[in-house]
Amino acid sequence: MSTEPREEKPPVPDLSKLPPDFRWGVATSAYQIEGAVRADGRAPSIWDTFCEVPGAVDNGDTGAVACDHYHRWPQDVALMRQLGVGAYRFSVAWPRVRPDGVGRVNPAGLDFYDRLVDAVLAAGIRPVVTLYHWDLPQALQDRGGWPERSTAEAFADYAAVVAARLGDRVTDWCTVNEPLCVAWIGHLEGRMAPGERDLTRAVRTAHHVLLGHGLATRAVRAHAARPASIGPVLNLSPCEPASDRPADVAAARRMDGHVNRWWLDPLHGRGYPADMLATYGVEPPVRGDDLAVIATPSDFLGVNYYFRQVVADDPDGPPPYARQVPVPGATQTAMGWEAYPAGLEDLLVAVSEEYAPARIMVTESGAAWPDRVTPEDTVEDPERTAYLAGHLAACAAARERGVPLDGYFVWSLLDNFEWAYGYDKRFGLVHVDYATQRRTVKASGLRYAELIRAHQRLAGSSEAVPARG
Ligand code: IFM
Repeated sequence: MSTEPREEKPPVPDLSKLPPDFRWGVATSAYQIEGAVRADGRAPSIWDTFCEVPGAVDNGDTGAVACDHYHRWPQDVALMRQLGVGAYRFSVAWPRVRPDGVGRVNPAGLDFYDRLVDAVLAAGIRPVVTLYHWDLPQALQDRGGWPERSTAEAFADYAAVVAARLGDRVTDWCTVNEPLCVAWIGHLEGRMAPGERDLTRAVRTAHHVLLGHGLATRAVRAHAARPASIGPVLNLSPCEPASDRPADVAAARRMDGHVNRWWLDPLHGRGYPADMLATYGVEPPVRGDDLAVIATPSDFLGVNYYFRQVVADDPDGPPPYARQVPVPGATQTAMGWEAYPAGLEDLLVAVSEEYAPARIMVTESGAAWPDRVTPEDTVEDPERTAYLAGHLAACAAARERGVPLDGYFVWSLLDNFEWAYGYDKRFGLVHVDYATQRRTVKASGLRYAELIRAHQRLAGSSEAVPARG
């Protein structure tokens, strides 16, 4: 699925290329915004534990308070209404709903999401519920975590509980967010919870997260009162060789396998890619009809896009023995990631051509920048405004090239807890002053609202292209 390098396009989104019912969304996740980690029966997750490890998170930050969204959600829903977004993607915290991971359900945890869904719907916004965004109950980690098959089974049981409660009002479901981060960053590189560095456990995790996706897809369809639209969310990157040296070309192919094909292939019924099985030298613990369960047809593919990867051979590094190299002259976000909107168009076209998913949503796209809070109480972030325009232009271009793309979710609604980077990296359309919890819509948020309104006007005058399917 690697793609050829191409020229970057000027960031002018042609909104007429987006269908009238295009979903203009924002995204968040539970641990990154909710705080209230001990409230109403919530039990610790692996991220609560990881944050206690000295040096694991910058500045010793934790999600204990975060944006205090658990208490301030009415204000946050009002902000979304003010922005005019049509969809809100948020995650349910498994340790709020099932504190021990299995067994006892915590009614107060479910009640929180019940109220949130009602408020989101009342604001005219479509809830898009992610079932797993990395906050595994610590109790399950204590029994072995994702390397154990029982965690995938527990995930499906928890998904059934959530679907039974919210599935009379929620239509859109994401199963697992970014399995790559769970398996490779959490269990191979150790930079995320649970902080392990073990290839065998990482491969076992990858298999069980994918299996959990398939089982949860079936569980949601069986337990939601209304027909569910459900899919996985993958963070994908186009991979290009850093040079035309055969070693770099092969490395880019391996990185493509590690980041993209390892997930896309089994989800689309192709099993695990043979070249990556050979690269890892570890067999995933496949049993019985696991591969068929993983390939349970999805209603959409969620794509999170942040950067492309320009790749060099790295024989002495960790699997996949390939490393991302900096691109000279590239615009870099505060994360050190290249801002490269053309990569989103390339990626969407390549995935669509290779795997033909029924629909695609860009379930996350956004960037951290050094925003400037002015004495006039505004937040100036021209880099984010340009970034979003460029990526929306890429969506419009992909759409024109036949990609069945029907939504775009900005990461993120609010500045929030950026995992191992703590609170210094701000991705929000809305600035959060963590000392006071005051929210201020950034200039990029105001611009996003304008784009939504402009598209709505176009759609109303039916100049936009008709929706597919
Ligand atoms: O903050 C994360 C999010 O939780 C998952 N996708 C990438 C974002 C930015 O790093």
